[in-house]
Amino acid sequence: MVWLTETAQPFPNVSPSRLAIYQLQSPTFKKAKRRRKVMTSLIAPIIRNHLNSPVLLGGSQCGSIIFLRASLPMRIGLICRAATILSIVAALLGCRSPSSNNQETLKARPLIPREFVRTPERLVRGSYLVNGVAWCFSCHDPLDFSKPGWPPVLGKEGSGYDWGSFGQVAPNITPDLETGAGSWTDDMLARAIREGVAHDGHFLNPAVMPYEFYRAMSDEDLASVIVYLRSIPPVRNHLPLPKTTDNLVTPYAVPITSPIPQPNISTPQKRGAYLVQIAGCQYCHTLRDVNRRSLPGLEFAGGDLVTTGPHPEASSANITQDPSGISYYDEAQFLKTIRTGKVGARQISPNMPWWYFARMTDEDLKSVFAFLRTVKPVHHRVDNTEPVSYCRICGRKHAGGALN
Ligand code: HEC
Ligand code: HEC
Repeated sequence: MVWLTETAQPFPNVSPSRLAIYQLQSPTFKKAKRRRKVMTSLIAPIIRNHLNSPVLLGGSQCGSIIFLRASLPMRIGLICRAATILSIVAALLGCRSPSSNNQETLKARPLIPREFVRTPERLVRGSYLVNGVAWCFSCHDPLDFSKPGWPPVLGKEGSGYDWGSFGQVAPNITPDLETGAGSWTDDMLARAIREGVAHDGHFLNPAVMPYEFYRAMSDEDLASVIVYLRSIPPVRNHLPLPKTTDNLVTPYAVPITSPIPQPNISTPQKRGAYLVQIAGCQYCHTLRDVNRRSLPGLEFAGGDLVTTGPHPEASSANITQDPSGISYYDEAQFLKTIRTGKVGARQISPNMPWWYFARMTDEDLKSVFAFLRTVKPVHHRVDNTEPVSYCRICGRKHAGGALN
């Protein structure tokens, strides 16, 4: 399974309350003599902001802590005692930022009785999506790390995997009755894949299960994925439950209540846009803030450290048309990279799930490339032959960051 390191570093676009928390926690702040300045410039506006819109706060208790402190805004600006700072930080941490949906404010839609008709067309399309475009099996089973591109271990496809201390448990989604999805309804699967709610009702972590992108799947593609999953051999594999994460940020776990028709794929660019979306290229190639919003201006510009289990991490590439990206690619080179996992003599890291994308048809890969050509070029150097270092463009650490 691949997931992203959630680097908690200050960025310009992180909400002010988060920024304040980072500032207060950072070693430089602890040493700094600028406490008063930070307090007045960062904390006070937040409190004012929360005071003006108390309704946005999480729980009533959080609210009252903020109110208590906020009733003395002047004092806060002047005194800056450690205790005050700590309690405000605690209060802010306790109340999640209003911009991030959370488990309390979110509602999962009730399950509905529906069953997707099994057709041969759906089986074929579903297999294409699960084994290729949507790379489901690069997480939901053990991988053969001895083979290029890390394909799934034969015969274990979909049987889930406990990524241990390196990540999450990806559940068994084969039709095994006892240990897999055999007893789940079609709508349980549908709701999990596109809306981020597991069969047992818990919200899925968008940092480890890319439902944010699968959300865009048309109803027909979703049905195909589920029809195919129902057809694979059941594999008995009992796994622990996925770990629950405190303060899980789930901005994309929003119910889908109206039909999602087939997308308009009348041009290669439009076809590519849809494929790039349901393949979740941006899951890795666009940096995110702590609320899992894309860093604006850095779409497709790479720089996220991608890790798979205990294996070496790699920084995602800049795949925009900037000279620091893949401007030197033509269509043939793009197809070659995806099909072989190689750029010239360089083998790219299997953290990039090229083995799965390699199964896509020429027409689909060409469309993906046609779409990528329309993406705004962004200057951002990422270079996996260089050490991981701080980058002043994105504010994170990644391979070749110091080159920027
Ligand atoms: C990057 C890794 C990754 C990819 C790719 C991925 N998943 Fe998941 N999936 C997970 C993890 C991890 C969980 C558990 C997350 C949690 O509970 O917070 C999960 C949860 C699920 C669940 C919910 C299981 C339940 O208990 O109800 C379903 C269903 C599922 N995935 C299906 C799919 C399908 C279908 C695809 C491809 C379209 C896919 N996943 C792609 C990692 C992944
Ligand atoms: C799970 C994370 C992940 C996903 C999803 C992903 N990539 Fe990547 N990609 C990477 C990483 C990491 C690298 C860097 C590999 C290296 O340089 O060794 C990379 C490299 C690449 C490269 C090679 C760039 C170069 O250095 O020449 C291309 C092209 C690319 N990705 C395109 C895509 C496209 C298109 C998609 C969606 C269809 C996609 N990627 C989805 C992680 C990902």
